[in-house]
This record gives sequence, C-alpha cells and structure tokens, in this order.
Amino acid sequence: MQNWTTDDAKVVYGLNKNDLHFLNITEEGNLCIELNGKRITIEDLVNRVHHEDGMKKGYTSSFTLRMPQLITYQILKLKRSFQKLIDDLDYEGDFCGIYPVKVNQRKDCVVPVIMSDPNYGIEAGTKAELHLIREVVGEEKHRLIICNGAKDPEYLSTIEEFTRDGYNIGISIESVDEANRVLDIFEPNEINLVLRLKPYLTVRGHWSHSAGRDSKFGLSIHDLFDVVDLLKSNGFENSVTTILGHVGSQITAIEDFRKFSRFMTRTFYEIRDMGFGNLDIIDFGGGLPIDYTSSHPPNMMELYATAIIEGIMDEMNNQIGERKAPDIMIESGRGITALSSLVLVEALEVRCVYPSVDDLPQLRKHLEAWISKLTAATSLKEILDIWEEFLSESMPEARSLSELKEQEKLRGAFRSEIRRHIADLGVDSVIANPVVEELWHPEHIVVGNFSVFNSAGDHVLVKQHFPILPVRDLHVMPETTVRLVDITCDSDGEISQFHRKGTGEIWYTQDYRPLTMPVERMGVGIPVGKLGNVKGSHFVIALTGAYQDVIEMDHNLLGDLPDVELLLDKDGKWETRWMAGAQNMEEILEDVGYFGLDIDEDPYMSGDD
Ligand SMILES: Cc1ncc(COP(=O)(O)O)c(C=O)c1O
Repeated sequence: MQNWTTDDAKVVYGLNKNDLHFLNITEEGNLCIELNGKRITIEDLVNRVHHEDGMKKGYTSSFTLRMPQLITYQILKLKRSFQKLIDDLDYEGDFCGIYPVKVNQRKDCVVPVIMSDPNYGIEAGTKAELHLIREVVGEEKHRLIICNGAKDPEYLSTIEEFTRDGYNIGISIESVDEANRVLDIFEPNEINLVLRLKPYLTVRGHWSHSAGRDSKFGLSIHDLFDVVDLLKSNGFENSVTTILGHVGSQITAIEDFRKFSRFMTRTFYEIRDMGFGNLDIIDFGGGLPIDYTSSHPPNMMELYATAIIEGIMDEMNNQIGERKAPDIMIESGRGITALSSLVLVEALEVRCVYPSVDDLPQLRKHLEAWISKLTAATSLKEILDIWEEFLSESMPEARSLSELKEQEKLRGAFRSEIRRHIADLGVDSVIANPVVEELWHPEHIVVGNFSVFNSAGDHVLVKQHFPILPVRDLHVMPETTVRLVDITCDSDGEISQFHRKGTGEIWYTQDYRPLTMPVERMGVGIPVGKLGNVKGSHFVIALTGAYQDVIEMDHNLLGDLPDVELLLDKDGKWETRWMAGAQNMEEILEDVGYFGLDIDEDPYMSGDD
C-alpha cells in the first residue's frame, strides 16, 4: 500500500456508500458531509459551531449533529422502493409508511417525518407518545395513528378522546384482555382494530425473539381464535382493518422477510375468510436493517420491498380463486432515522500503553538475538513460538518499577518487530487468532469528551457496532490504530471495534496493524492517519439516530451532549443551528433527588482551546 489514496480510505472506513453515502473525503483527507451535491468538512463544521456558539450555555467541544434532511431522504427512498415494485409488478395494493415514535421521539425527528410525506402515519406505544403525536399531527387528522399496547384503561380513554376529536386511530389488540377492554369502551362503528399476531417463524438477528411462540408481543394462535370469536359475537367483524406482525429489529437476513410475508399473507386470507371482510391491510412492522458496516448489498431497501411484495404474490398464487391484494404497511423506525444523527467527539488526550523509546539503536542491540531468530522464521507458528519464548525468557517478574519500565520498552519494541514479520509472511499464512489479535491490539488510547452510555448506549447494551471515523488525515496511509474511550469511570465506556472490510488480502497500517482482511471481520483498533494530529481533533460516531436518544443513560451523571442541527439554506449554503446545550448538572442532579443546587454548568470536560 505504498501509494495510498483517499479511495483506499473510503474502502477502509466504508464511506460514500450504502448508509454512509453522505460521508466522503476531500482531497486534503478531511472527512466531509456531502448532501445535495454540497460539501462541508467536519472540521469546518466544528469550527463554525465553536465560533458561533462557543459562548452559549452548555457549549462543549463534543456535540450531536442532527440532519433532518436524511430522514426525508430515507422516507422517500422507502416509498420509492415499494412504489416501483408495485408499478413494475402491477401489484394492486397500496403502500403506506408508519413511523413508530419509540425509535426516536425527538421533535426534530418526528416533525421531519411528518413533513416528508402528507400521508405518513405514526405509531404510539404509550399515553405519552400519543400526546406527542397529537402535538405534531395537529389538524392533519387523516393521518393514521396506530396505538400499540392498549394495556390500561387510562390509555384507552385517551385514545377514545382522540377518536372523538376526529383522529384516525387504529387500536392494536394483542391479548384477550385487551380485546375485552376495547369492547367495553368502543362501539363497533367507532374504531378501527388491528390484530397483532405472533409470527410463528424464526428469523435471524439479535432481536429474533420478537417473533415466534415465545415472543412478548402479539396474539398466540389460540388467543387469536378466542379474540376472533369475541369480536364476532359482539358485532366487531367490520372494525378489523389490519393485521400486524413484527419479527424484530435489524434483520439483515433480508430473505427471511419473504417467509414472513408469506406467513402474514396466508393469515390475512384466513382471517378475512372468518368473516372479517374489511380486513384490507397487512402491517409488516419494523425490522428493515441499517448497514452499520457498509458491507451489505447497496440496495437493502429494494431487496426488502422485493421480499415483502414477492412473498405476498407467491402466497396469492397459492390461493384458490381471485383474491384481493392486501395494502402494505411498513413500520420502519431504525431504517428511517438512523442516518440522521452523528456524534462528534473531541479527542482530549492520547495515551500510549508502552513507554516511548528514546534510544532505539541501543534497544535493538538488546533484542539482536531475538530479531535474528525472527528473521529466520518462515511461518506464523515459528513467529508465535518465538514470541512466547521471548515472553518467558526476557520478561521475568520485575523486581522494581524501573525494571518493569525497561521490560515494557523491550516488549513494545519486540512486539513491533513481530508484527512486521507477520505482515511479511503474506496473507496466506496469517490466520487471525487470539495471539495475533493481541499483537495487533492498539497501543494508543484516545480519551474522548463523551459518554458511550449517553451517546451510543446500544454499543454497551447489545454490542451494536457504530462506524467510528477520524475526521482528518485520511489521505495518508494510517500510521496506527487507536481505541476511543469515554470519560466515564466504566471500562465498558469504550468504542474500539472496527469493521475490517474484506479486500482479499490484508492491508496494513504503517505499524503493521490490519486495516482490512481477506474476508470481512470485526477487529479492534480505529485507524488514524497521523497520530500526532489526533489530540484536539474529532472522531465521528455515525448512524446513531435510531434508539440511542431513547435509551441514553446518565452514567457518572454525564447527561446529553449539545444538539446542533445542520441545514442547507435556500442558496445551497450550509447553516448550523444551535438547538440545545449539554444538560446542566443541576437538572441531572435533580433526577437523582438533589434539589435546589444552583449549578448552571454542564458535566463534560472543557477541553483545550
Ligand atoms: C411493532 C413494532 N413496529 C416497528 C418497530 C420498529 O422496528 P425497526 O426500528 O426495526 O424498524 C418495532 C420495534 O421494536 C415494533 O415493535
């Protein structure tokens, strides 16, 4: 990799493609946002915010960037993906999108959803969410509002109030008790009902337990029969308009949606045939995945739409006689909002876990015998044996701190030699195993002014991978790799995983740590161009717009970072809009019971100016 170019960097970081299509690299090696043909570098953005908002309350060097235009982009893309197939295949049903607000209830997220499509619907799971929806929907009462989880009478009376006010509500029922509660309050002609079913099938993915018999949600098959009888005996057959199934979030095995679609379609016709003639819609819930690793096919939305529509059509062909094509409803949340936020983290400090070496020739002299052994080694096994031998022979238990420091120098230097020899072996001989991974492990730790728990909680909760990107020096072959740790006192407060793309061979950093792999694979270590420029620069944590605001945790009383909105003005120029400063300590302390403390400051580090 002698002639490193920004195209190589795009491969390594997965930029300018798939769900990171809006991130690119300038010729000077700066990470930039590129939308509607306009570019702004992250460094310019950070400087602009510093210059314009640096004196505002709650300003910190790190912040969350909101990009509402990417919500619109995703909504239009989803709609286009379905509409194109509907047209191409002469499918007779319609498509409708529903946004489940639980994925991100922030106003700057829900309002762009509403503004992007005059007919987009919304899904609420609680009373509070329903009130939020009234606030954003306003007088646009034609928009469908699906109310999930009508578990308590108070929630139902709020729904009743909304229905009387003329809102277009569909109540989802997922137990016999829920059905009874709904029947107690509503008359048959007052309400649309959605039967939420457990999809009896297995899909692959972290949340695959959302489907199947043991799922927390939906009617079990026997409950479905009981609810059907109950509705029929009370004259509610014509109130049922929709069946709903949700197989779990982030289902990357897109083909699994085809069998889900077939299951839902079969069920749709069976329930219609039970006397529910107004049943017109299949709501396929969420699950549309985001490509967090830039390694999936570029057109996952189209593949998803294809699996759903072809699944329906397959099943229609299996039916006897002419059948009505169901309308298709999709409740994608992650797929709509993930792109719209990213976190910009200032690097406060860079630490090295090995001592610096001031006299390399002297050190190499010490290592001479070991290095010549290494030079003679011709296989990975031999190299690793030499490393093991070196550790047991040259690293006896140190009797003083200065002896330990000298050992650390030797160990660090020989570890570098070993890495170089492993790289020299060529790709066919290098099998990444735990010892090799340990040798590749980064020796530099970057302390970022943020909390993983607050800004990217899923990294801790479900090991969700988020792309991490340095913002500068992407035009040079990376010098090394680093770990990014936060300022909480928790060792889980670290994001160092890096998705090594599959390039058929291993690309290395200047210090022989892998950037890519023959076949894609997760590893540890974020590549950086010039280590000396890292302190004071920023890292981007991308694709944080879904769920991360919802699950944020105030670990160590570190609250929300500031929010800044990025907008293109009428003349095609970028504008940043300061939305809110970091949460102040007074507010966070009140949450844990300390009232009346007059501390109007945020808890994050002030950083270097
Ligand atoms: C009923 C329902 N619809 C939609 C969603 C949103 O899923 P996703 O964010 O994967 O699109 C969920 C998520 O849990 C859900 O339970």
